[in-house]
Amino acid sequence: MIDLRSDTLTKPTPEMLAAMAAAEVGDEQYREDPTVNELQRRMAELLGHEAALFVPTATMANQIALRAQTTPGAKLLAEERTHVMVYELGGPAIHSGLVMQARPGDAGRLTPEQIEQEPELGRGGIVVLENTHRSSGGRIWPVEDFRAAVDAVHDRGAKLHLDGARLFNASVGAGLEPSDWARHADSVTICFSKGLCCPLGAVVVGTAEMIEGKGWESKFLFGGAMRQAGVLAAAALYALDNLVDRLAEDHERARRIDSDAETNFVAFEDAPGLQERLRQRGMLVGNLRPGWLRAVTYNGITDDDADAAAAILEAERVAA
Ligand SMILES: Cc1ncc(COP(=O)(O)O)c(C=O)c1O
Repeated sequence: MIDLRSDTLTKPTPEMLAAMAAAEVGDEQYREDPTVNELQRRMAELLGHEAALFVPTATMANQIALRAQTTPGAKLLAEERTHVMVYELGGPAIHSGLVMQARPGDAGRLTPEQIEQEPELGRGGIVVLENTHRSSGGRIWPVEDFRAAVDAVHDRGAKLHLDGARLFNASVGAGLEPSDWARHADSVTICFSKGLCCPLGAVVVGTAEMIEGKGWESKFLFGGAMRQAGVLAAAALYALDNLVDRLAEDHERARRIDSDAETNFVAFEDAPGLQERLRQRGMLVGNLRPGWLRAVTYNGITDDDADAAAAILEAERVAA
């Protein structure tokens, strides 16, 4: 069975497990875990921000960023199929008291005009942009468009959070640095447990004041600090050093399935019973958005798997 449901299916590599076993650790809440400290330092530097906070999931990183930069009653604006709108179960309203406003966007992008015209998005409000954008099929924000959207947000006096769960896919796909997008945002989420193969882990970056203040406060409110989390930070550091460049292979394999793929997602239209018929032919796919499915490549999916998946999809098309 070729399992292309999600890049969250990646497993730590043997070398990553060795790095985890060798990690120097301490109590993270006391700020005494040297490996967590090193990961946070590196991520802040890499993304062009002052400070970072290591947390278990990208969902938690997003929720911390939102709570840390807003007050209850403020508006959250995002494209209607961003993760934070669709898959975080109203978290911004529940945890931070935000009024959640979703707007449609092409390839998951909000335009400067949409941001300029959004009622009640003033000082205190926050906008979330997602790169790559999951539900449009792993699409990459063109830097110029991103910059224009961020400028529009700042002109309104609002904050900009970048959900960069797959920002490394965007940077490898576009041949740019992650900071080319990240440095313009007020806060950024990065996830290590997708294409980067870690068992879990994410960071949120921002100003030192935000991370040290409401960032840590929110981390405690959402479950508390961790202890010897260096075993996990070591996996992330290993991934940063060894597994970022190979994301290009995932993108190449996605393009073996569909030449339109920008990163590691292949998007295709759903049809009644299609997922089950694909399963019977030996291929598992996931949901992308209503009416659309996804096939996602990741470490462990080979050229042969990609070619077989392409052949299965073609056989289905012919049969349909
Ligand atoms: C764009 C985006 N943001 C955030 C998340 C949340 O990640 P996690 O499952 O680590 O909470 C995901 C997960 O798929 C995602 O696709």
